Amino acid sequence: MRMYDLIEKKKLGHPLTAQEIDWMVQGFTAGEIPDYQMSAFLMAVCFQGMNLQETTAMTLSMAHSGEMSDLSAIHGVKVDKHSTGGVGDKTTLIAAPMAAACGIPVAKMSGRGLGFTGGTVDKLESIPGYQTALDREEFFSIVNEIGISLIGQSGALAAADKKIYALRDVTATVDSLPLIASSIMSKKIAAGADAILLDVKTGSGAFMKTVEDSVALAQTMVGIGEQAGRRTVALITDMNTPLGDTAGNAIEVVEAIQTLRGKGPQDLTELCIHLAGNMLYLAGKGTLKDCLADAKRSIADGSAYETFCRMVQRQGGDLSYVQEPSKFPTAPAFAVLAPQDGYLAAMQTEEIGAVAGMLGAGREKKEDSIDPAAGIRFVKKTGAQVQRGEVIAQLYTHREEKVAEATERYLAALSWSNQPPKPSRLILARVTAEGVERQQMQEGK
Ligand code: URA
Repeated sequence: MRMYDLIEKKKLGHPLTAQEIDWMVQGFTAGEIPDYQMSAFLMAVCFQGMNLQETTAMTLSMAHSGEMSDLSAIHGVKVDKHSTGGVGDKTTLIAAPMAAACGIPVAKMSGRGLGFTGGTVDKLESIPGYQTALDREEFFSIVNEIGISLIGQSGALAAADKKIYALRDVTATVDSLPLIASSIMSKKIAAGADAILLDVKTGSGAFMKTVEDSVALAQTMVGIGEQAGRRTVALITDMNTPLGDTAGNAIEVVEAIQTLRGKGPQDLTELCIHLAGNMLYLAGKGTLKDCLADAKRSIADGSAYETFCRMVQRQGGDLSYVQEPSKFPTAPAFAVLAPQDGYLAAMQTEEIGAVAGMLGAGREKKEDSIDPAAGIRFVKKTGAQVQRGEVIAQLYTHREEKVAEATERYLAALSWSNQPPKPSRLILARVTAEGVERQQMQEGK
C-alpha cells in the first residue's frame, strides 16, 4: 500500500477500506507516514468526508493504536460522559458525583482545556492538593471504595488521536464531522466504559454551530459507539450562551460546589439533572423518568455533595476549600458595564471563551500554564434587560494590561435589541440508536 494512493483516492471522493484506514493510522502512529502526507489526507477528508463505515474503521483503529483500558476490576456498569466542549461547562464536576451518589460507579478520565474551551482537569487542579494523575490500581480502588474518581486522561490512550489532533490543530482541519467523531469516540472506546453519554454542544460556543450539524455528529458518534458494543446516547445542548454564571477554573469549581449544594444557576442544574439521569438510564437503573427523579433527589438530599467531598478528600484535595469556597483565590475584578439600555439579545460564546483565555483562564498552546484565579462572572446573560451603565460581567485577572482589550472584545461579542429575544431551549434533542427525539424535554415542561 502507498499513502500517496490513499490520499488520491480520498481526494477523488472514493471510500477507503477498513484495511487501508488501519494501515494508514498504524503507520502514522509508528512514524512511518510523514506529517505532510497525513495533513494532505486530513484536508481531503475535510472536503470529501467519510461514510459511517470509514469513520467507524478510523475510530477503532485509533482506539487500538494505544492502551485499551480494562475497567473490569471495577464492579458494576461503567458509564462514561463526554462533552464536545464549551464555555462554562463544569457539568462533569456535578453530574458525575450525582450519578455516583445514585449508585453507579464513575471512573472518569477527563481532559484539559484548549483554545476557547475549558477542561475538567484544569478546574479540579484549582483545589489545592487534588491529584489528577493516579496509577490504575489507585484509580480503581477509589472507584470501588467511594463510587467515583475523576482523573486526567492517560496519554497512552488512543495514541493516534494525540498525533492526528496535534496536526489538525495547525492545519485548519479540526472542524470536520468524521474527524471530530473518530477523535472523540476513539478515546471513549479506549477508556473502557460499558456505556457512553455524549453532551454534544451546539451554537456559537461549540464546534458545531447548527443543531442539524450537531445532530449529524451525534448520530455518527452514537452509531460508532453502538457498533463497538457500547450503549451510547447523546444530548444536543445549547451553547449559544455560556453555561451557568461563570467561566474559568477556581470560579467554576465554586459554582459546581454551589450547584451540588442546591444553590446553582437554573440552566446548569437542569442540564446536570439530565446528564446524570441519562447516565443512570444507560446503567440500567430504571426508566428515564425515574432516573431523572433520582438524579434530582441526589442534590436535594445532599448525597451528591457528600460524594464530591469524599472524592476530593480521597484524592488528596484540601476539603476545607470545598466546605468554605471563599478560600479559593480570586484575581482582581474589573466590571464590564452595559453600553446601552435594552435586552441582551445574543452572546458570541466562542469569543467569550477566548476572552476568558486572554484573562489567564485558558492556554493557547498545550504547554502554557493557566491562572486558576482568572475568569469571568456573567452577571447578565442572553435575555436579560439592562440599563446603560449596569454591571453585566466581572472580569477576574492578574493581567491588568489586558483588561481594556478584553473588555472591548467582550462587548463586541454581545448583541442588543429593544425586544426580548426568543427564549432558547437548553436541551434540543436526544439521540439514541433508535432515532432522534426532539420533543421539549426540560423539567416541568
Ligand atoms: N474534542 C476532541 O477530542 N476531538 C475533536 O476533534 C474535537 C473535540
